[in-house]
Amino acid sequence: MAGRILDGKKIGAAIRADAGEAARDFAGGGRPPGLAVVLVGDDPASAIYVRGKVRASRKAGIRSETHRLPADATAEALGARLDALNEDSGVDGILLQLPLPRGLDAGKFLARIRPDKDVDGFHPVNVGRLASGAPGPRPCTPAGILEMFRRKGVEVAGRRAVVVGRSNIVGKPLALLLLHAHATVTICHSRTRDLAALCSQADILCAAVGRAGLLGADAIRPGAVVVDVGMNRIVDETRVRELFGDRSRRLTRFRRHGYTLVGDVDPRAMRERASRYTPVPGGVGPLTIATLLSNTVELARARRAAGNG
Ligand code: GUN
Repeated sequence: MAGRILDGKKIGAAIRADAGEAARDFAGGGRPPGLAVVLVGDDPASAIYVRGKVRASRKAGIRSETHRLPADATAEALGARLDALNEDSGVDGILLQLPLPRGLDAGKFLARIRPDKDVDGFHPVNVGRLASGAPGPRPCTPAGILEMFRRKGVEVAGRRAVVVGRSNIVGKPLALLLLHAHATVTICHSRTRDLAALCSQADILCAAVGRAGLLGADAIRPGAVVVDVGMNRIVDETRVRELFGDRSRRLTRFRRHGYTLVGDVDPRAMRERASRYTPVPGGVGPLTIATLLSNTVELARARRAAGNG
């Protein structure tokens, strides 16, 4: 029997609506919440993500601005821009879009953003708060996934969760949030032996590695909840046929556009074996943006409560 879709578009829309209401409430106190997105260089995928983030935040009543710096921006120029945003009292959240161009050390610049404006929760102080379970902004994708579980009644406490991927943006913070929600958590990565065997033990399987269709049927326990964070662009028709079949609608669309997006989990195996799963696209992506809006409003409120906004 086909599993049920966890529809990120619908869930994301509900989270966005709540954030919009909270933003209006906040604006009643004198000014709207403010978000500044910093985009360095001209990576096309990053530009698309940033446009989506800015558009969604404006729709929710958040005052939102994009700060573009050229790919050859100096460390001094980027540092100065972040310092100016740190000082701007109308800006509550600062997002430095990753990855940065070669030569700019992301860790150094993430640490330059004031922790109370760190809308991604990537500042070392906020990473520490997450690790110790103290309140603070949480990375958007992992927080969005936990919020989806909460809204859709996916039980986490006491269940076995396997997270594939150990990035600072998704894998590690997701594992910590699942742990705080009382799951028994295993983190797998590129050096893990018997990956499929470990994954097949999971009640909740989360994949965030960026390798199209890495996890197949042997990695999915029948009835598992599967969250696929992967967003891989496929341009090879043979691979599309392998993953979706020779007569799929996806193949027709692939021929029209010349590419398609595939997650880290084999889409047919996921549909057949999971009880609930996030599709790609339309699963986790919209949750990330929606959570960015709630994080921005949350930071705005906290700053106002502290007398800073
Ligand atoms: N690049 C890919 N995902 C993210 C994210 O969640 N935040 C930032 N700042 N950059 C990203």
